[in-house]
Amino acid sequence: MCGIVGYIGDRPVADILIDGLHQLEYRGYDSAGIAVKCEDKLHIYKAEGKLDNLSSVLMQHKSEYQNATMGIGHIRWATHGAPTVVNAHPHTCNCGNLAIVHNGIIENYKELREKLEKQGAIFRTQTDTETVAHLIAYKYAETKDLTKAVQLATKEIEGAYALCVIHNEEKDKIVATKRNAPLLVGIGEGEYFVASDVPAIIKYTKKAVYLEDNQIVTLTKNNIVLTDECGQELFLKIETLPWEPVALSKMGYKHFMLKEIHEQPDVIRNILVGKIHTSEEPIILNEVKLTNDTLKNLNRIQIIACGTSLHAAMIGKYIIENFCGIAVDVEASSEYIYRKNVTDSKTLVIGVSQSGETADTLTAIKQAKAKGSHILIITNRPDSAMAREADSLIPVSAGIEVSVAATKSYVAQLVSFYLLAMYMAEIKGSLDESVLTSLKSDLTKIPQKIEQMLSHKEQIQSCARLYANTKDFIYIARGINYPTALEGALKLKEISYINATGYPAGELKHGPIAMLDESMPVLSILMKGSVYEKLLSNSEEAKARNARMIALTNSKDEKLKDLFEYIIEVPDVQELLSPIIAIVPLQLIAYYIAEYLGKDVDQPRNLAKSVTVE
Ligand code: G6P
Repeated sequence: MCGIVGYIGDRPVADILIDGLHQLEYRGYDSAGIAVKCEDKLHIYKAEGKLDNLSSVLMQHKSEYQNATMGIGHIRWATHGAPTVVNAHPHTCNCGNLAIVHNGIIENYKELREKLEKQGAIFRTQTDTETVAHLIAYKYAETKDLTKAVQLATKEIEGAYALCVIHNEEKDKIVATKRNAPLLVGIGEGEYFVASDVPAIIKYTKKAVYLEDNQIVTLTKNNIVLTDECGQELFLKIETLPWEPVALSKMGYKHFMLKEIHEQPDVIRNILVGKIHTSEEPIILNEVKLTNDTLKNLNRIQIIACGTSLHAAMIGKYIIENFCGIAVDVEASSEYIYRKNVTDSKTLVIGVSQSGETADTLTAIKQAKAKGSHILIITNRPDSAMAREADSLIPVSAGIEVSVAATKSYVAQLVSFYLLAMYMAEIKGSLDESVLTSLKSDLTKIPQKIEQMLSHKEQIQSCARLYANTKDFIYIARGINYPTALEGALKLKEISYINATGYPAGELKHGPIAMLDESMPVLSILMKGSVYEKLLSNSEEAKARNARMIALTNSKDEKLKDLFEYIIEVPDVQELLSPIIAIVPLQLIAYYIAEYLGKDVDQPRNLAKSVTVE
């Protein structure tokens, strides 16, 4: 999704902006641009597509901007208007004296545009952002003070935004503000950075101020002033960023996705450190701030999430209900927000998000919080907006995930749910000691089993080649692995653009079976356990319609050889833990198919890593 970088100091600004934008590009974008101020003139450069295109444009104009030491930059993920050069940020006002970059969506942009057009503004783009450029320019004409102009303009704007503005008539100055979208200021020696996310600036400084909603920051080379929406100066809360400069390196892998799939065993090991000492000892989960009494009396949990996190949430539901006997509802955040939900102070609400910034989930969490629910957040970003809303925060510690398609953050979310469910079960006394002991013991063995699988990944690569040219793909499963089928299908869709769908296998006969013929691959996630025989019957039904059957299984059952044309064997694992094992080959199938088809694996078209608009 969109990304913002700004800089004011002594260094050549274009290099810093481009470098910062590169650190954000994993979020997904389709055009880019920068505005720099040099000798009392604003220069704006933009390009469609990747940052390399923008760099080529910059090469042709080097003499214009090489002395510039302040500016703002942006990568855009199109929402309003196609991803063209014209619609790329920065946007300007009519006189070209002001430049603005924006993340988020201005909801009342149509009304604002009409009003501004009546005042004489001439619009050149289809974007919502351009309205803000004109609006601030008008306010500037009245006040001759950029901070004041931003303050007045934001009173008229509805929606979500992180904004960065520069003006030619102001002595070197960047003004930035935000509402419901992340923005932070990095503090250096005689220089300041603005960014929508940490990786853009961590190379330069670890000292930062996170802006809160409606705060406005004014940066000059040697000064920073933070004010509230009324212009009242505020105390600066300087934080040390809990990050090491991350070399976004593929470490010899062809793509980040493949590297991140291989990191999963270590991610799991890291999460378990300090949480499970021995399988006989209780789980340690100090992050959960609910009292034991509250936990014992909980009778309802809601989990809200989007995308891959939603699939982790569905497995979370399955295991919490199974281990703790508490009713759990799971809902897509975007649906939760717009219905009359009956969340209350007795409900535990769990938000799951790798980025911690997804607008739908953030809004849903805020709604639940307003109703008095205890908010437990499971996220890979303990410094995110969602984390700041949490009453209890479980950081999943998967490390930065660069590939847009989530892999290691998903597995980390799953493991966090297992820990949470076992922790609650221990407090409630709702699960047999022997079951808990075996779960803990087997969970610690999973990293090794994934490693074992990864060392034989060639069988999955061969399987992927066999099916790479299909137009459609069906994944079936039952019980705890139904969400695994959804996640496997989502991975394939996201990066190969093949129409892949996951079904609970029992539903096949109620419609989807009509699609089956000799051209349709059907992958059955056939893990031993309570639904094995039933799923086998469903697979027979699909085979009887000539579908190309593939099994993903930990069973050595000889009769599978007659039923399936391809069998992917996975290490043995108990059914309740099987989703952590079963997803890995599905990630690899998606990866190898997309790689074989020559797709942009790490930055698939139209997708963004962190979706900060509703
Ligand atoms: C985007 C990403 C998905 C992700 C979803 C939810 O669509 O492309 O990979 O699953 O957002 O993101 P979150 O950060 O809340 O987990």
